[in-house]
Parts: sequence; C-alpha cells; structure tokens
Amino acid sequence: MTKETFKAFLVSQIDNKNYQTNIVEKVVDDLPQGDVLIRVEYSSLNYKDALSAKGNPGVTKKFPHVPGIDAAGRVVISKSAQFQANDSVIVTGFDLGMDTWGGFAEYIRVPAEWVVSLPDGMSLRESMIFGTAGFTAALCIDALQQNNITPDRGEVLVTGATGGVGSIAISILAKLGYAVVAVTGKESQYDYLKFLGASSIISREEVNDNSGKPLLKERWAGVVDTVGGNTLATLIETTKHSGCVTACGLVGGAELITTVYPFILRGVRLIGIDSVQCPIATRSTLWKKLASDWKPSHLERVVTTVNLEELREKVNAILQGKIVGRVLVDLSRKDRLAKL
Ligand SMILES: NC(=O)c1ccc[n+]([C@@H]2O[C@H](COP(=O)([O-])OP(=O)(O)OC[C@H]3O[C@@H](n4cnc5c(N)ncnc54)[C@H](OP(=O)(O)O)[C@@H]3O)[C@@H](O)[C@H]2O)c1
Repeated sequence: MTKETFKAFLVSQIDNKNYQTNIVEKVVDDLPQGDVLIRVEYSSLNYKDALSAKGNPGVTKKFPHVPGIDAAGRVVISKSAQFQANDSVIVTGFDLGMDTWGGFAEYIRVPAEWVVSLPDGMSLRESMIFGTAGFTAALCIDALQQNNITPDRGEVLVTGATGGVGSIAISILAKLGYAVVAVTGKESQYDYLKFLGASSIISREEVNDNSGKPLLKERWAGVVDTVGGNTLATLIETTKHSGCVTACGLVGGAELITTVYPFILRGVRLIGIDSVQCPIATRSTLWKKLASDWKPSHLERVVTTVNLEELREKVNAILQGKIVGRVLVDLSRKDRLAKL
C-alpha cells in the first residue's frame, strides 16, 4: 500500500516572500518516518494552519509542507504495541503540521507518543469539530476550575467569541453553569453567541482600555483570552480579586504591557495555556471530558465542513478574523477508505 497515492494540501515556496498551495497526489513513502501510519478521516482549520500555509517561519521552516495541526482517523500500520490497525485515534499539537507533515492530507505518519485513543462517546468527526481550538478551550476551563473559579464566583469573559476557541469555550462554560460574557467584533453574530449560551455580549472596545490606569473596575471572576495585546492587559486590570485570567492567543497582538498591581493588590492569577506540548495524561483526561460531561449538544451548529479544494478560501478568511465557529476538513471519502 506504500505506493498508493493520496491527496494532500501542499504549500510550496516560490521565492523569498511568496508561497503557493496546491492539492497534489503523494505516496505514503513521501511521509516522514514514524511509528503509526494513520488514514486521516477529518482534520480542522486553526489559526496556526493559516500562518503555516502563508509561509510564516514562526510556525513552519521547511517547505514544501503539508499543514494541519489536527488529525483524526484510523490506524493503518503501528510499530507501537499501544495501537493496533483500525484503532480510532486523535493527533493534535506536538510538531504535527508545523515541520512534520500534518492533517491536511489523507495520511499522516507520527510518533506513537503523539497519539491519543478516541474516547468512548465521541466520533472522529466530533473530535475534529473540537480540534486544537476545542482542546485549548478545555485547557483554559480546566485551569479556571483548578484556580477555584466556580460559577458562583461571577461572570467568565471570553474574547474572540465567534472564533474556534471562543465558540467552544462559551459552549462548554454555559453547559457547566457559568454566566458567560462574550466579546466580539461581529455585531451580526449576536444571535449565534446567545445560542451558544452567552449571557451577555460586549464589543471589543469595551475591553480595550487606553486610560493608562493600572487598575480598573473589578468585573470578571475568570477570563478565556484569545486576543492578547492591550485586550489582555485590560482584562487583567478588570479581573476581580483572586480571579483567574487564562491567556492562549495573540490575534490582537503579542505584546503585553501592564503593571504588577493586579497581581499584588488583587491576587489576580495569569495562567499561560499551551496545547502543543501538553502532557499526554492531561490530553487523555480532557478528551474524555469533551466526550462526556463537557460535550455541548449543539456541536453541529458551530461547524462549517469543507474538502481540501475548499480549504484555501477558509485559510484566507481565518487570517482576516472572518471565520465563525470551526472549519472541519472532511477527508473521509468512503470509496478510498473501502480499499484499506
Ligand atoms: N496556546 C495554544 O495552545 C493555542 C491553541 C489554539 C489557538 N491558539 C491561539 O488562540 C487564538 C484564537 O484561535 P482560534 O482558532 O480561535 O482563531 P479564530 O477561529 O480565527 O478566532 C479568533 C477570533 O478572534 C477575534 N479577532 C480576530 N482578530 C482580532 C483582533 N485584531 N482583535 C480582537 N479580536 C480579534 C475574532 O472573533 P470576534 O470577531 O468574535 O471578536 C476571531 O474570530 C489564536 O491566536 C491562536 O493562535 C493558541
């Protein structure tokens, strides 16, 4: 089967600044070495994939390259005793889709240490509706819980609310009984955010303070921040005493200018979230929660499904902040799967 061709979304470098994407046919021998060969059925689009597809050297240094930091599918060949042929598995993070060819292809080959078994109660499709964005939302909520942010402590604010991390974070928090404040730049999506479970919605400007004051009125018990920059600084300065701010993203900027006052006068905690190197035990625990108590009933409402050909347009849209919810990449062509 190593000579069987499969489809991949390949990014090639044209010159110093320019990159192009093509759907190409590859053979399994073209894949990097690894313990587990997986027939990918679903992947998903994350912000980082779009950066990789545009040649961002902070994400991918080696081209030609297949992006896709997420993949879910069935094991075809495993050199590891941990996995058998036909096992349903999830791979997210580590080097997948960064400098190791990723999930925007019908096959991946990866180290066994990167692979998580699909938990009971979750389909491969559902796992990729969550994808890294949903898993990151779960990491943020887990951090809030570990820092004793229970629903009775007050509102939890979510930025980038209509995006992937934001949509899933709102859905899970609402399911767990939190009052959720959604921050969005998209006035047209208020109904969508209410449907997900937001109890109130505010504009980006309301959490972008330029007064220079080190402490502002206390408002949130907890925060899931995907934006960074001055938004994150404002959120730290508006979090209640002993509250917790989780920082996972930088769509609004990587710089953070604030003072120590929120930390030393209000005991605010700032927790960094990294889904890439997250230990495998934490992954298993959180994927099980996503498959059960934390699984929103309306997952299908947050997803747009595309094939590899339709992906290019979505790559541009996510970089412009125009995506609502999650983009699922369907690679499950049943005619090809039947051959395995
Ligand atoms: N730390 C980790 O392990 C980890 C894992 C996954 C993602 N991330 C990061 O988390 C961030 C969000 O990822 P995602 O997958 O949710 O991306 P996404 O689907 O593109 O969502 C981002 C959302 O942020 C808002 N936004 C966009 N540009 C903005 C700006 N200039 N200022 C303020 N808000 C803006 C938009 O929502 P509204 O229009 O509703 O405001 C947008 O939909 C990215 O920076 C990503 O790299 C980190």
